[in-house]
Parts: sequence; C-alpha cells; structure tokens
Amino acid sequence: MSKVTVVGAGNVGATCADVIVKQGIADEVVLLDIKEGVSEGKAMDIMQTANILNINTRLVGVTNDYEMTKDSDVVVITSGIPRKPGMTREELIGVNAGIVKSVTDQLLKHSPNAIIVCISNPMDTMTYLIHKVSGLPKNRIIGMGGALDSARFKYFLSIALGANPTEVEGIVIGGHGDTTMIPLVRYAAYRGVPASNYISAEQLAKVAADTMVGGATLTKLLGTSAWYAPGAAGAQMVKAVLHNEKKLISCSALLEGEYGESDLCIGVPCIIGKNGIEKIVEFELNAEEKDLFKKSAEAVHKTNAALASAL
Ligand code: LAC
Repeated sequence: MSKVTVVGAGNVGATCADVIVKQGIADEVVLLDIKEGVSEGKAMDIMQTANILNINTRLVGVTNDYEMTKDSDVVVITSGIPRKPGMTREELIGVNAGIVKSVTDQLLKHSPNAIIVCISNPMDTMTYLIHKVSGLPKNRIIGMGGALDSARFKYFLSIALGANPTEVEGIVIGGHGDTTMIPLVRYAAYRGVPASNYISAEQLAKVAADTMVGGATLTKLLGTSAWYAPGAAGAQMVKAVLHNEKKLISCSALLEGEYGESDLCIGVPCIIGKNGIEKIVEFELNAEEKDLFKKSAEAVHKTNAALASAL
C-alpha cells in the first residue's frame, strides 16, 4: 500500500494529484487544502473519471484535516500564493515561508517517515526552509524545480530540432529562477548525439533563453503561474521515489560541498529512489558553467537570507 499526500489543491496540487491518479503511481492519494470544499470538489471531479479511464487509485479531498494524511510515504507541498505576471518567484517569500513552515510541521506530525517533495516558490528557498524547520536527513527533502526546468528545456529543444520530445536529452541545474537556472546546452543531445551537431550555437542559445523565462512566459499568457508541467514534474518525483526508479533527475538538494557549495538547496543532478535523494551526481562543468553555478548559488543564498525576516 503506498500513500501520497498533496498539500494545496490549487492548479499545481490538483494537477499533481490528477497525474498520480491517472498514471496509477500510488494506491492512495490525499489532496488537502485549507479552503473549505475545494479539495473535496477537485478530488470528486477527478474520481468521476475513474470509470471512464479505468483508474484504480483512490483519491480523497480533505479540508485541513491532517489526521487523514497519516502515514503517507511521500508528501508534496504546493502551498502558498503563485506569482502574478511581472512578479519574480523570489517576491513570494514573505507570504509563503510561514505557510510552508506550518504545513511541514503538521505533515511530519502525522507522517514522520515521509519523503518531502517541495514545489512551493521560491522553490530552492522553501526547500532550504523545510530542512531548517524539520531537521530531517538531507535525502528526505527534494525540491522539484530542476525537473520542471529540464522538461521545458527538452520541449524547446525538441522544437528547434524538429524531434520527438521523448527522444531529446537535456538537463537544467542551478536555481529555479529566471536568471539563476543553467540549461546545460553542452550536454543537450538527440538520441545520444550532441544537439550542436544539428542546430547552430545561436539556436541553442535561444533554446536556453526560452527555457530560463519558460515560467514567466506562461505566467504572462495565463495571468497566473503554470500548472500542467509543474504538477506533472511533481508526480514524476513521487513516482521515482515510490517505484524506487533510481532515475537521474535535476532536483533542488541540500549541498554540503558538492559543486563547491554548501548550506543551500539548489538544482543538481540527483539519483531519486525509495530513500529520496540517494546520490548527488557531480557533472564535469567547464569554467563558464562553474562560474554560472557560483553566481546562481550566490543569488539563492541572497534569497535564503530573507528567510530570517520572513518567519
Ligand atoms: C513555474 C513555477 C511553478 O516555473 O515555478 O511555472
């Protein structure tokens, strides 16, 4: 029996629950929100597809009833306000820090052994906050950003290459911010062949630039933060843990010397399995990439410094 709790029944949380249910990733899913009725309504709507889509996962929606989340194997935190057009993810820190702290405390009270997946923004800082308030071993806290950014990178890459998105390779490391993420264009590939064999350096630079503002572009188009890919990326992490996939996924992890950094959570390639972050993989970076990573880490440290006054 595997059980997952998703906190926050907004667009991202509900999509995450929906993907978990539709792909049969867990046996049981609890969708929790503080807003009366919303999670119940969304869970009911999703479960009314069960017969049509042959779904065997049980999803329930609850209003702030943490007792129902008891003994979850994985908990996904999406709580907090999303960004509006023109806002950066970092601007959300004041409101979201308090919410994420209280949600973490309540979740761990009922599921002391759970692996935590953090989606709330600013994601790297919220993941770091969860470390600080929970004191859990570092493998049990996974920030979702890099998986989403890498998915966007592969999307833009597939368009530039005219390729099937499932056949391209690409990874984004660094912070989950418009100016801090680092699409590793040097490692971008199409069926194992470097993407640079097929498209120009200018085209690759455009793919990277589009990736970096991928979230902001959608926020502008939609009037609020995106949800299909963020929710699916959250479900991808849950699946990697529950099914012990040992997949290499870019996640925000607590660094303790890896990549020359420490005391922050930032996107790095990780092996994700039943113990959460089972390994941080150290890619060989060239001088330029190392410099970008250092700058990205500095920016994340700066946002983390605002936590002290936010709590
Ligand atoms: C995005 C939000 C979820 O990148 O951070 O769309």
